[in-house]
Amino acid sequence: MTQNTPSPPSATIRFGCAWYPEHWPESRWDADLDLMVAAGMNVVRVGEFAWSSLEPQPDRFTADWLERAIARAAAHGLATVIGTPTAAPPAWLTTRHPEVLRVGPDGRVHRHGKRCHFDPLHPVYLQHCRRIAGWLAERFGSHQAVIGWQIDNEFSDLSHGPVAANAFRHFLRRRFSDLDQLNRAWSGAYWSLAYDTWDQIEPPDFRGGDHPGLLAAWRDFATEAWTAYAVNQAEVIRVHAGSRQFVTTNATFEFARQDSHVLFAGLDLCAADVYLGSGAPLVHLDPGWMGVYLAAARGVKQAPFWVMETQPGTIDWFAANPAMDPGEVRRMVFHQIAHGADAVLFWQWRSAPNCQEQYHGCLIGQGGRPRPIYDEVATVGAELRQLAPLLASTSVQASVAVLWTYRDRGLIDSRRLHQGFDPWRHLRDQYAALRRQGIDVDVTSPWSQLDGYRLCLAPHLAMLDPALEERLLAYVAAGGILILGPRSGTRDPDASLLPSDPPGDRLGAALGGHVRESYCLTSPLTLAGDIAGSADIWGEWLEADAPDTVVNLRFGPEHPWLAGKPAMLTRNHGRGRIGYLGTWPDEPTLAALAAWLCDLAGVSRPWAPLPPGIEVSGRRLRGRASKGAGDRQQGVHIVINHSATGHVLPVPFPVIDAFTGAPLGTTLHLAAGALAVLIGE
Ligand code: GAL
Repeated sequence: MTQNTPSPPSATIRFGCAWYPEHWPESRWDADLDLMVAAGMNVVRVGEFAWSSLEPQPDRFTADWLERAIARAAAHGLATVIGTPTAAPPAWLTTRHPEVLRVGPDGRVHRHGKRCHFDPLHPVYLQHCRRIAGWLAERFGSHQAVIGWQIDNEFSDLSHGPVAANAFRHFLRRRFSDLDQLNRAWSGAYWSLAYDTWDQIEPPDFRGGDHPGLLAAWRDFATEAWTAYAVNQAEVIRVHAGSRQFVTTNATFEFARQDSHVLFAGLDLCAADVYLGSGAPLVHLDPGWMGVYLAAARGVKQAPFWVMETQPGTIDWFAANPAMDPGEVRRMVFHQIAHGADAVLFWQWRSAPNCQEQYHGCLIGQGGRPRPIYDEVATVGAELRQLAPLLASTSVQASVAVLWTYRDRGLIDSRRLHQGFDPWRHLRDQYAALRRQGIDVDVTSPWSQLDGYRLCLAPHLAMLDPALEERLLAYVAAGGILILGPRSGTRDPDASLLPSDPPGDRLGAALGGHVRESYCLTSPLTLAGDIAGSADIWGEWLEADAPDTVVNLRFGPEHPWLAGKPAMLTRNHGRGRIGYLGTWPDEPTLAALAAWLCDLAGVSRPWAPLPPGIEVSGRRLRGRASKGAGDRQQGVHIVINHSATGHVLPVPFPVIDAFTGAPLGTTLHLAAGALAVLIGE
């Protein structure tokens, strides 16, 4: 796995569902496929979890049923994505090889009866995965109707058994030249934690109190392990699929289990599973929470992505699972498309009569008839079919980014210091404030291509190493504006405190400032300066060290230590500007700050100010334009009213309504929950 390369342009927009034909008599298939077609669908995902139907006994493969299902789907005009079934090993496999069963951090062996109960590092399991994936690819790798592959399903946790423990030790031996180096890097003298032999190192138990160095290493190890797990199948699939079919896996972003930027580097496109609760326990669509999640999926390869799973109105895994409101699923799909999804697939078409997910939302009821949500889905299907020629080969091209890393997120999450310091919420707040300006915003890694961005916010870039500092300074020197957020530049990649005041030697020198002290806040503090507002949760006493460092914000008088102290600094560096924000402003303050920063960076905000609940997103023909030039390309603008009240919006440039082809005047009337797709500059 090397460079993270953008996915190839998509010739069309895909709309479909997860279909499990093995749950149903074949006599029912055509009825289901007819209904899919009537709902405007053009793709199904099949096969994942179907290991026991594909290989009911060792080496007795039976894919005829799958071939017939794919053929029936194709006859209805539906393309197929095949999921490899490896998240659900059959009973014969784990009975023959109990050694492949996953061991939890508590030592409990996971047994047959659920899913994901395998050790992804176990060579016997890997061999079986390669065999079934290779066998499927041999059979379907040149099938005309198969357009892609999904490896496994939502990679979950590593095993904590002996195989994983040994592999972890090998990983550490590669990272540290000897045990002394590891002990020094992890401050082994503290609590006499130093190890005498490699064998003494055990995986973290996640019951609290784990060593931060061990946790950080385990996170990196998990990324490496799952990446290798994907490669094991991708390699053998590609032998037969060539470049005719894409290879991906479906990931979630709300749990920091692997670094998606690394995981997807060797895969053809990023596929995300998107449920309303992704990131927060929500039952209704929140454009901030879902937006940051989708932007993070797009940011993985800085390219369009697939929504491989999304909910058809309800789920079954919250404390309460109310239905989304009428019209909300339509808004959700357009919200996903607006954020760069080239495909949206519902999970799932119809629930199996029994088993764990009987009550999850689906499109077909237990009696075989469409559920009420089906009609709304069919409306969206028809709309997407109409818009597909317009949307195909377009992508979101943002000139602003929010930078995050999975490692920082895990690090902060494992030691928040203030319960309210939820790193994902922190990311979401800065993202949402920028989005309030009516601009597109990428959420990506600091290791991604940064040179197209005029402005980058890095809400909590905790872990620094010299290469990253150099990269960020080069971005600023070349004209970018980089604003670091609280807790940035505090640790090295082993989670050790850096031997310098935050935000680290080199970034601090460029900023001409440093963090003197950090405080957890228990009540809001006022802020004044270039903007006015208030902040909460976290406050840092900043000090300017250089005469040309500008204090942009100061804390008000409320806090005994922070009263009057600088809360935000900026300074010119090369052709750009570097800044540091030492607190967590509330939503209106962050929105004001975002507006101020956009103006500083020369990011045009033709739609601003947007009323609350109104969201504007743009897609343009692929091929990223250089800074500024992109603004002149024709774009598709998706305007969604997520609020419960109607709004009249000034339209900043001439547009035509993509549905009717009629030119629109200078105002757009959007009823509560309505959306518009506009073609304009
Ligand atoms: C996903 C998973 C699906 C299904 C769904 C239910 O995370 O990939 O297989 O379980 O959740 O919401």
